[in-house]
Amino acid sequence: DHKHAIDRDCTTLSRHVLQQLQSFSADAQDLSALMNRIALAGKLIARRLTRSGLVEEALGFTGDTNVQGEAVKKMDLYANQVFISAFEQSGLVCRLASEEMEKPYYIPENCPIGRYTLLYDPIDGSSNLDININVGSIFAVRRQEGEDLDESASDLLQPGHNQIAAGYILYGPSTMLVYSIGHGVHAFTLDPNLGEFILSQENIRVPDHGPVYSVNEGNFWQWDESIREFTRYVHQHQGYTARYSGALVGDFHRILLQGGVFLYPGTARKPEGKLRLLYESAPLAYLIEQAGGRASTGIQDILEVMPDEIHQRTPLIIGSRENVALVESFVQRDT
Ligand code: AHG
Ligand code: MN
Ligand code: MN
Ligand code: MN
Repeated sequence: DHKHAIDRDCTTLSRHVLQQLQSFSADAQDLSALMNRIALAGKLIARRLTRSGLVEEALGFTGDTNVQGEAVKKMDLYANQVFISAFEQSGLVCRLASEEMEKPYYIPENCPIGRYTLLYDPIDGSSNLDININVGSIFAVRRQEGEDLDESASDLLQPGHNQIAAGYILYGPSTMLVYSIGHGVHAFTLDPNLGEFILSQENIRVPDHGPVYSVNEGNFWQWDESIREFTRYVHQHQGYTARYSGALVGDFHRILLQGGVFLYPGTARKPEGKLRLLYESAPLAYLIEQAGGRASTGIQDILEVMPDEIHQRTPLIIGSRENVALVESFVQRDT
């Protein structure tokens, strides 16, 4: 009906947050404004990505190496700065930590200081940037604990259960923002003509079982035998299909909607795996649990892991509860 159509078009992110919280408290207003800033960052990054073949400084490498030892792409730095700029002068966030920064970025004293911390992966799947395949941004919001913003940022080293919001932006054929503030998982699609993210899917539930398994089988010989056993099992059983894009956000989004499991196990070179807990695995673990799925290191729930440094990596097994349990049964068979 007409009313419904207009109403739906007006369900923007900031309004949806207030609806979710059923409150207009200061905290609710803060979160609503904070999600709006995330949306702004997403729009700015999407705009640059859609023109990346046309604007000089969007493609290719900067020549630097980040704290992870990875070659930094120009888009990595651009997107990293976009999130900082979106939150300076916002009065919402006091500190930002990301894959591309060795130490957290502190909002300067002369800016209004907020009560939240933003942990983010500004561009996830950077290896897809120069070949025009989807990439994403991942974010997690936590409350600022304690007063002293000491350099060690020890208050950031908390398990994923302490997240109060998490989500990602998927820069694909459409630009989607998927988030949760603890009341289910919801997706918004960017309407470029409006310049707004409009609600497109509410209360997304991941199927208990799914056909997709998503893993880089090029690492097969670096894996623990238990993971090799798991892949032999899915090779020998009907009903599985392999999908791997090289960007966690895109692979995760497929599994969130269709079911299955994504895994990035430990390898000989990286025994703890490649994915970073605070701004990749923990935010996605928060989402998948809100959608009725699971996320595990193989031994422990991701949301229980106690990080001891900001860029800590863990193995990641995430998706439908039955598919995750199957992988865990292999991993735990030896223990
Ligand atoms: P990022 O681009 O933020 O460094 O993350 C890349 C990650 C993740 O997006 C993806 O699933 C994984 O790296 C792919 O790693 P491999 O190329 O080793 O499979
Ligand atoms: Mn990277
Ligand atoms: Mn990433
Ligand atoms: Mn990244």
